[in-house]
Amino acid sequence: MKTASLRELYIEELKDLYNAENQLLKALPKMAKAATSPELRKGFEKHLKETKRQIERLETIFNALDESPKGKKCKAMAGLIEEGSEVMEEDMEPDVRDAALIAAAQRVEHYEIAGYGCVRTYAELLGESKAAKLLQTTLDEEGNTDMALSELAAEINVEADEDAASDAAVSSGSPKRRRTRPSKH
Ligand SMILES: [Fe+2]
Repeated sequence: MKTASLRELYIEELKDLYNAENQLLKALPKMAKAATSPELRKGFEKHLKETKRQIERLETIFNALDESPKGKKCKAMAGLIEEGSEVMEEDMEPDVRDAALIAAAQRVEHYEIAGYGCVRTYAELLGESKAAKLLQTTLDEEGNTDMALSELAAEINVEADEDAASDAAVSSGSPKRRRTRPSKH
């Protein structure tokens, strides 16, 4: 069927996000379980709660539009989650696995940020101001999650690097590399 209007595109994109969030809802508990760092685990658990509220916001928007939120599969999120689960299956040092989990989670956040940015703008153009506000709230949460993951990465990536350095030191007989402070980015 031809998508003829911005309103139709808006609904299609909202459905994609609704499906994406529901896929993430199932994946986040597994990611939390796979995390070694307690902070990272807490971060995933916090985002699980946020994701539930984000789904409710989308349901509020669909109700107001008198449309069903169902009927679309977000293939991109399925792919991102699949890559994340490959990380969980691989044999990795705990800090390295945490770093890889952060990389997978940030890809998810960036995907969602792009999606919510688009639908927020469509809602504004279509005069759906209540929906635009709800979508902006979610967009802000996704942005904050991404920043929190970057902060965690600043610690965890260094620890993962130190794992490798101490392994190398053991095999070469040289002393362990000194801990360096993570640089801000
Ligand atoms: Fe989300």
